[in-house]
Amino acid sequence: MAGKSKILVIGGTGYIGKFIVEASANAGHPTFILVRESTLCNTASPKSNLIQSFRSSSVNFILGDLYDHESLVKAIKQVDVVISTVGYAQLNDQDKIVAAIKEAGNVKRFFPSEFGNDVDRVHAVEPAKSTFGHKAQFRRLVEAAGVPYTYVSSNFFAGIFVRTLAQLDAIAPPRDKVVILGDGNTKEASVPLNVRLAICHSVFVMGDHTNFEIEPSFGVEASELYPDVKYATVDEMLDQYRTNPRGSTQTQNGKKQEQGLEPQSELEIQEPTWIKGGQQVISH
Ligand SMILES: NC(=O)c1ccc[n+]([C@@H]2O[C@H](COP(=O)([O-])OP(=O)(O)OC[C@H]3O[C@@H](n4cnc5c(N)ncnc54)[C@H](OP(=O)(O)O)[C@@H]3O)[C@@H](O)[C@H]2O)c1
Repeated sequence: MAGKSKILVIGGTGYIGKFIVEASANAGHPTFILVRESTLCNTASPKSNLIQSFRSSSVNFILGDLYDHESLVKAIKQVDVVISTVGYAQLNDQDKIVAAIKEAGNVKRFFPSEFGNDVDRVHAVEPAKSTFGHKAQFRRLVEAAGVPYTYVSSNFFAGIFVRTLAQLDAIAPPRDKVVILGDGNTKEASVPLNVRLAICHSVFVMGDHTNFEIEPSFGVEASELYPDVKYATVDEMLDQYRTNPRGSTQTQNGKKQEQGLEPQSELEIQEPTWIKGGQQVISH
């Protein structure tokens, strides 16, 4: 492990965080997660199997909380790289991580919780406009803090959106019909559907994943940066439903579970699937 950066993931028990923790540990990085005591000790929680699998992968747990400054500084002092994968509810409080990074003074790179649209290049309507706006504002705070940073704009996670053909409430590809958004008629929706619809409007109607070139002045396309990574195509992803509609897949608790056209558990771990094209990494 000599020469490998030590990596701290804040939010490592979340949807995207668990993949990043797993990838970091598999790549041989000494990997740490900041975890709340309530999550670590709750054996009845659906996350307890995840915690157990992290233990088997030699992931180091550091007890702490985003809202406990001392615990953040203590955790950050032990690593070289900090990756935030906190969820929607904590996005606006990531300034606490920056404050702790500045106090700790040892961090070589910070990855804020991004992992979606390039928020500096969106044309969203509300309420997505404000959500993206908060992420963009946080970018400015990180830049002003002088901490080396990388923003990962992964667009939509293919593992969520391809397997449902981007149908908002589906958990498997629909067989009878698909709804194609954007007929020009404004419709009312309440929280949280309006957030999801507004994000879909940005992506599918405004084309915010693909309507700009990734210029060297602000980013690099991920497949150029990591040419050795094998990407799955959309066809390959959908093939699993065509050829194996009642197939099985590994779940978090190690049991096989029906996959394909039947509902799947929310906690099911699938390989994170990255589709070539449009994924962008912005580093300074
Ligand atoms: N591109 C896409 O398709 C897509 C889809 C979803 C999300 N995203 C983006 O990915 C990022 C992560 O979202 P997510 O859905 O993966 O998040 P999530 O599942 O809600 O996970 C949130 C994580 O933050 C942790 N956390 C919450 N409060 C905390 C606190 N006070 N102190 C320390 N940790 C705390 C949670 O820990 P506990 O386990 O203790 O609760 C959990 O590990 C976001 O920026 C989101 O916008 C992108």
